[in-house]
Amino acid sequence: MELLGIDVGGSGIKGALVNAETGEMLTERFRIPTPKSRKPDEMAEVIKQIADHFKYHGPIGCGFPTIVKNGVCKSPGNLHKSWMGVNIDELLTRVTGREVTVLNDADAAGYASMNYGVGKDKQGLVVMITIGTGLGSGAFFNGQLIPNFELGQIPYKDYKKIELWAAASAKEREGLSYEKWGKRFNKFLRYVELIIAPDLIIVGGGTSKKWKEFQHLIDVETDVVKAELMNHAGIIGAAIGCLREHHHGHLS
Ligand code: BGC
Repeated sequence: MELLGIDVGGSGIKGALVNAETGEMLTERFRIPTPKSRKPDEMAEVIKQIADHFKYHGPIGCGFPTIVKNGVCKSPGNLHKSWMGVNIDELLTRVTGREVTVLNDADAAGYASMNYGVGKDKQGLVVMITIGTGLGSGAFFNGQLIPNFELGQIPYKDYKKIELWAAASAKEREGLSYEKWGKRFNKFLRYVELIIAPDLIIVGGGTSKKWKEFQHLIDVETDVVKAELMNHAGIIGAAIGCLREHHHGHLS
């Protein structure tokens, strides 16, 4: 079955057609920058443009950068605050004219790694950390998703949440070298280790493409690996996560 997977981020909205059985991407990735306002109607319009680009009319699976419970946004993360309380499934289904199912973006990326990537057959507690505008986290215990882990929300120093200090957006905002930023990211991983004691940490999101630049700064006890699907994991995982939801009922 061919499905459209869409990964919504704070800086770009990306989509591709995915084979939902094999997890293969069937097309090039198509990306449109996220509207500066990061507001619901404008973002929904971009998602419609992506479906139109692929001339696609089937169901869409969408990874979304907020807490998502039963399709509803429960905390807007780095998007506009007017997302709070919006039924994202309903809004996107109405605006795009296609059946849209959303799940948290890091949960989606984790799905892809657990099914087709480095997380396959991994038991115990595995956490996918995505580095982008925010720091996302997707947790799996014995392969089962525990939805909406929000490890990027831990307060740190004067920052309301550690992702404001250690995500890719902080690197950009403060003009940090990989060396400087990587140390921050490692500090974040140390908190993750202390709080949830995972068996494996998988690093994904846009910045995982630069793995070589900061890998040497990672110094924690837990095994830390790069998501080899890199930032495609968000798209692939959105498509298969959506399929699962159709088969098994709601994710959360
Ligand atoms: C949000 C998370 C999201 C992460 C990555 C955070 O700001 O709270 O839900 O997964 O950004 O996009």
